[in-house]
Amino acid sequence: MNILAIESSCDETAAAVVRDGRTILSSVIASQVEEHKLYGGVVPEIASRRHCEAINGVVTEALSQAGMTLSGIDAIAVTYAPGLIGALLVGVNFAKGLSLATGLPLVPVHHLRSHIAANYVAHPDLKPPFLALVVSGGHSHIVDVRDYTDMKIIGRTRDDAAGEAFDKAARTMGMPYPGGIHLDKIAEEGDPCAFALPRPKVDGAPYDFSFSGLKTAVINLIHNASQKGETLPVADLSASFRKAVVDSLTGNFLQAAGDLNVSTLVLSGGVSANSLLRRRMDEEAAARGLRCFYPPLSLCGDNAAMVGAQGYYEYQAGFIADMTLNAAPTMSIEIGSVTLHP
Ligand code: KG4
Ligand code: ZN
Repeated sequence: MNILAIESSCDETAAAVVRDGRTILSSVIASQVEEHKLYGGVVPEIASRRHCEAINGVVTEALSQAGMTLSGIDAIAVTYAPGLIGALLVGVNFAKGLSLATGLPLVPVHHLRSHIAANYVAHPDLKPPFLALVVSGGHSHIVDVRDYTDMKIIGRTRDDAAGEAFDKAARTMGMPYPGGIHLDKIAEEGDPCAFALPRPKVDGAPYDFSFSGLKTAVINLIHNASQKGETLPVADLSASFRKAVVDSLTGNFLQAAGDLNVSTLVLSGGVSANSLLRRRMDEEAAARGLRCFYPPLSLCGDNAAMVGAQGYYEYQAGFIADMTLNAAPTMSIEIGSVTLHP
């Protein structure tokens, strides 16, 4: 089964053709990041406009790279939630138009479910059940993935997402948007024990995260130093901050894995590109005899191949929408499957 997948939830316009949820026939991404960089973050109105301009060309290119026309496609999958509403609407309406014109089934896909599914194309033998750490710019969840479309949130952030904390700390250190990747690179050169930073815990919720106190601690260190006319060593501060975030993510994730007695762990979302997080999880999983999967760097950030992968399993489970499908800015991963034709 060939799925044409479309993603436009934030600042990447992407389309892909994916076979049977596991094989990428094409994957095209038009990134707007250079334009948003000028403003230090994503400007929603600009994002919507750029999606409108790019989507036709991106979808056409994805079909052409797969060596196909719409006649070779069996279903259209599209990210419908969560994300920037104006951005999501571009992809959803484009997909609805294609579905109406061709009669192909329309499959709505939850963005975080698709981040998890990036692992299905990268690891052909990976199957639920497993425990997933979903860490992106807007979300930090520990998810019990019982089946491809059956998920339960075990832990979540109480304030900032991990990616958001990385980006805000990086911005205060003068790095360009999105700062997570820059901070990660610079941290490789620094001493992770140079600065003592908090490891916030949430009382009574051992799997929940809190990153805002950590972020504020770094921002205060930088502001206090600059008021005294001092500059802090950016590599050491980056390394200390990265270690604090990774300690918190891995600590809660491994505790949940132990308590739930799971044997397979999966990392997903933009922050799963973090080099320390990947190294640490490799070590910890090996020490405990667990299997740990994460996507290749090319599939960690937003892309449509992951939407095609999750779309395949949503379709198999019967989650198909009609022309009343709407985009939603927020939506729990637990109720991410919508069915309009039961
Ligand atoms: O999943 P994603 O591409 O978009 C959302 O759905 O939000 O995640 C983007 C986030 C950004 O906050 C970005 O800074 C972060 O992922 N990120 C990283 C790294 N690469 C991307 N954070 C830490 N280390 C990285 N190497
Ligand atoms: Zn994402």
